[in-house]
Order: sequence, then C-alpha cells, then structure tokens
Amino acid sequence: MSEVKIIKDIKTIHNEIALLKKSGAITGFVPTMGFLHKGHTSLIEKSVKECDATVVSIFINPIQFGQAEDFNNYPRDTKRDYNIIRQTGAQYIFMPGESSMYGDNFKTTVSVKKLGKIMCGRYRPGHFDGVCTVVLKLFNIIGPDIAYFGQKDFQQLFIIKKMVEDLNININIKECPTVREEDGLAISSRNIYLSDIERENAPLLFKTLKAAAAMIKRKNTSIKKIKKTSLELLSGNCCIKSIDYFDFRNRSTLEEIKSLKNYFSREGRPGILIAAAIRMKSTRLIDNVVI
Ligand code: PAJ
Repeated sequence: MSEVKIIKDIKTIHNEIALLKKSGAITGFVPTMGFLHKGHTSLIEKSVKECDATVVSIFINPIQFGQAEDFNNYPRDTKRDYNIIRQTGAQYIFMPGESSMYGDNFKTTVSVKKLGKIMCGRYRPGHFDGVCTVVLKLFNIIGPDIAYFGQKDFQQLFIIKKMVEDLNININIKECPTVREEDGLAISSRNIYLSDIERENAPLLFKTLKAAAAMIKRKNTSIKKIKKTSLELLSGNCCIKSIDYFDFRNRSTLEEIKSLKNYFSREGRPGILIAAAIRMKSTRLIDNVVI
C-alpha cells in the first residue's frame, strides 16, 4: 500500500501538483464527494494505471444541492475513504474546507444553459451550475492532465465535457463505465439510504432500462409504446413513489428522440441513451443505458 498525502490547503496542493508536472509527470484527477464505493475506485484505479500521479478530491459541494435535498445528511466517513484510497495507489487526497472553497465574498458561478435544465436539471434546478462551478474550481486548483468521470451520471459527464470544450479547458476528460451490484443496481453513495425492501426492489430500474433497450434493438415497436410499458413497469412497483423522467435521447446531443423510425433510417446514426430517475421513499435513484 502506498502512502497518501492528505492536503486541505488550496495553495499547497496547487504548488505540489505544479512541481510534479514540471518534472514531466502526467497527473490524473478524480473528483468525488466521498463515501467511496467500487464505482469511485474504478475511476481511481484507471487513473493510477494511466497516470504518474493521481489526486482524489473529497468535497461535498453545498452549491449543487437544492434546499430540500440531502446536503446535511449526505454520508461522510473520511477514515474509511482514506483507507480505500490507500489501497488504490493514488498519491493525494485533496479535502478543502467549505469556507476555503466558498468564502463570504464568493460571487461567480458557471451557468449551464439548456443542457442543465433537462432530465435531472428539471427536477434539480441549479444543480449543474453548482457541479460545473466546483469542477472548474477543482480543475484550476489541481491542474490535472486527465480527469475521470463515471457514465453512471451521464448528464453530468456530458455537461462537463461540453464545459471543457466551450471554455477551452486544457484537460482530457475520460469516461468510465457504470459499476453495478451483482443484481444490476448501479452503485451509489446514496444506496445506503435504501430500506431493505427498497433495496430488494431497486434493481427494477436497471431491468426496465435494459428491457427498453432490448425493445429498441428489436425495432418492432415505437418509442411511445416502449415508454408506456416502461413507466407501467416502474409505477406498478410498491417502493417507487414517483418517476421524474424516463427519456430516450441522442447520446451525442442529448436531444430527445421521439420517433425510432426516423432515427433508424438516418445515416451515421449516433447511439441512443435511455436515462431515468425514480424516487423511492428514502432516496432518488438515477441510471442509464447506452445503445
Ligand atoms: P460522486 O457522486 O461522489 O461521484 C464521483 C464520480 O464517481 C463521478 O464521476 C460519478 O459519475 C462516479 N460514479 C459514481 N457512481 C459510480 C458507479 N456506480 N460507477 C462508475 N462511476 C461512478 O458526481 C459527483 O460526486 C459530484 O457531482 C462531483 C463531480 C464530485 C462534483 O461535486
């Protein structure tokens, strides 16, 4: 197991990484909100494999949570996170305090336009502005060559890639596949909120997404019908309180796909993203599949 340096001060991490880069080291960065699980470690391990030095940040970013959301209850366990990171071979943990990231005089945020207002953004207003603001700050503080993000949060990954392109940020964004439990449930720090019965029923989300993907591949039905069947499957479950969205989108633009017929007839057709968010009593779950 390697030694990991925990750094809380912005200038200190900035200078350490700048020195490393001067010596020619390729630096990888994995931003997280902590309470690490196998999804996070898959990103960290990829970075350790591909880069000379890896920085993992742990910061529960208050400005990406809505007022009625779980910022205060978000699971935290720094000691456990530290032990997990040590086993991955990453060299640095950056854990800034809230006041050093957002002092009293903090006045500037990133504003995500239409892409931040669809899908999860419709139900979490301002969420993606908060995500992009913190990610841009972390990028500027650390200055990595490569940053790793999970496909589990497809919209987040998409918006960050767009921000990097639009704002000319010189960082390579790498996407990593969703890591799942054996029964298909996408691993998430928030799964800890699920009651036993909710946990038992939670894999239905991925099952429904996969079933929708299979129907599309068979090409013998319409998006409208597939959506209706999917919504019926989910809303008939005892643990699912409501469905925020179950969307079929062009994976390269996030534009909604309304007709499969036109879609399949188009030349050079890009992949289809099926993404959904559901609410159980204890928590909200999101997942997606890409065809
Ligand atoms: P967090 O939810 O902690 O996730 C950190 C990273 O881990 C994200 O890139 C996310 O997509 C990835 N991830 C989470 N679960 C995963 C899984 N099951 N398989 C693969 N990757 C997974 O996402 C955030 O934090 C924050 O919004 C952040 C980007 C850190 C900004 O605050």
